[in-house]
Amino acid sequence: MDRDYTDKNPALGALYASHLDDVAARHDRALEQAGASHAVIYSGGPKVAFLDDYHHPFKANPHFVSWAPLTNLPYSYIVYTPGETPVLIYFQPQDYWHVVPGAPDGYWTRHFDVRVVHSIEDVAAHLPENRENCIAIGEFDDEELAFGIERVNPTTAINMLHYARGVKTEYELAALRLASQRAVSGHHAAEVAFRQELPEFEIHRAYCKAVSHTDPELPYSNIVALNAHGAVLHYTDLDRSKPDSFSSFLIDAGAQVHGYASDITRTYSDGDTRFQDLIDRMDAMQREIVSKVEVGVDYRDLHIGTHKMLAEVLVDAELATGDPDMLLETGVTSAFFPHGLGHLLGIQVHDVGGFMENESGTTIDPPSGHPFLRLTRVLEENMVLTIEPGLYVIDMLLENLRGTPAEKLVNWDTIEWLRPFGGIRIEDDVRVLVSDRENLTRDAFAAAS
Ligand code: GLY
Ligand code: MN
Ligand code: MN
Repeated sequence: MDRDYTDKNPALGALYASHLDDVAARHDRALEQAGASHAVIYSGGPKVAFLDDYHHPFKANPHFVSWAPLTNLPYSYIVYTPGETPVLIYFQPQDYWHVVPGAPDGYWTRHFDVRVVHSIEDVAAHLPENRENCIAIGEFDDEELAFGIERVNPTTAINMLHYARGVKTEYELAALRLASQRAVSGHHAAEVAFRQELPEFEIHRAYCKAVSHTDPELPYSNIVALNAHGAVLHYTDLDRSKPDSFSSFLIDAGAQVHGYASDITRTYSDGDTRFQDLIDRMDAMQREIVSKVEVGVDYRDLHIGTHKMLAEVLVDAELATGDPDMLLETGVTSAFFPHGLGHLLGIQVHDVGGFMENESGTTIDPPSGHPFLRLTRVLEENMVLTIEPGLYVIDMLLENLRGTPAEKLVNWDTIEWLRPFGGIRIEDDVRVLVSDRENLTRDAFAAAS
C-alpha cells in the first residue's frame, strides 16, 4: 500500500465504507443491549494542567476515532441512529489563539451528515431531542457537555464495543500496516544514530524526524535505551549526554496512522559478539513464537510456552542451569522476563478487550504467577497483537531469588557479564489468520530494505 499517511489515501478510502458498516453494526447491537435508540460519541476535550492555563496534549476518545480518522478534533460528536447516515457535529471554534480545524475534507466526509458548529451551545440543536433515548460514550469532564444525556458509558454497550474491537476490519488492518511501515523508517534512522554513537536524546530526535511525529503524536513514549538502561522496562529518560562507551541499544518505539498504532522493539549490539549471539538466539525464539500464532490458540499457552523456550535460552547462554519446568516453577524465568508476552494492538497500544471472554464482559484471568499478561483470549481471525519476549538483568528481581531454591540455578557470574548490556526485547505486530499469520512488522522491515 502507498505510504500516504493522510486521510486522502485512496487505498484507505476504498476500505472505509465497509469499515463503517462494521462499526455501525457493533453499535446496533450495543444500542439494542442498552435499550436505546441513539449513540452519541464525544471526541473529548483537552485537559488543563493544574493551576495553569496550558493544556495537556489532546488524546481523542478511541470510540470516536473508531468511527472517523479524526484524532485532533476536540468538542465534537458523532450521533448514530441505526439505519441513518451518522451525523458528525464538527466543532470549529472561532479562536485566534490556536489553529482551528480546517473544513472537513478527506475520504471520510461523504459518509457523514457533517454539521459544522462554531460554539458549544450550538451542539444541542443537532442532538436527538429525546435525550432519554440516547446513550453517550466518552469522557465528560464537565457534565454539561453531555447535554442532558444521563446514560453515560453504560457497561453493557461498552463491553460489547470493546470485545468487538479485538477483531480488526480490513481498513484497520491497512492502517496498522501503514503504522508499522512508518515506525520502521524511524527504527532505521535510530539504528544509524546509534551506530554514530549519538546520545539517547539525539537518537530519539532522529526517530521522530523519520516518522514525522512530534512527541505527543507518538502512540506511546519512546523507549530509547543505551547499555544498562535497556533493563528498565519503561525507560523514557532520554539521556542528553553520551555514555562513556556504547555496548547495546534497545529501542521500543511506534508510530500511528489515523490513531492506529504500531509497537515495535529491536535490540542491537555494538560489536560484542557474545551479546550479538544472545540477541540472535532471542530473535530466533521470537520468530518461533510468532510461527505459533493462529486462530484457536490460547494466548496464555503461548505466554507459558515462551517461558519454557526462554529457559532453554538461559541454559544455553549459561545464565541458568536446570530443566525448563524447574526454571519456570522456581521463578527463574520470571525474574529474567517479568512482563507479558504481548497484548492486543489497535487504537490503543494496549488495546481494550484483552481479558474479555465474551461481549457481556466476563473476563479470563492471567495464569497464576503471571499477573502482567494483558491478553488472555483465544485468538480469532484478524486480531492484531504483539509478540515481545524479553530477557533482562533486573537486579531487584534477581536478588529476590537469593535464599530460595532458585539461587543455585542461576549463574551469577554470567549475570555480571550481561548487566552492562541491560537486556533484550524483540517485538513484532502480528495479525492472526486461520493456520497462518501476517507479521506486519517483519513485512515492513523487509519492504524497506
Ligand atoms: N511499548 C509498550 C509495550 O511494548 O507494551
Ligand atoms: Mn513496545
Ligand atoms: Mn507492546
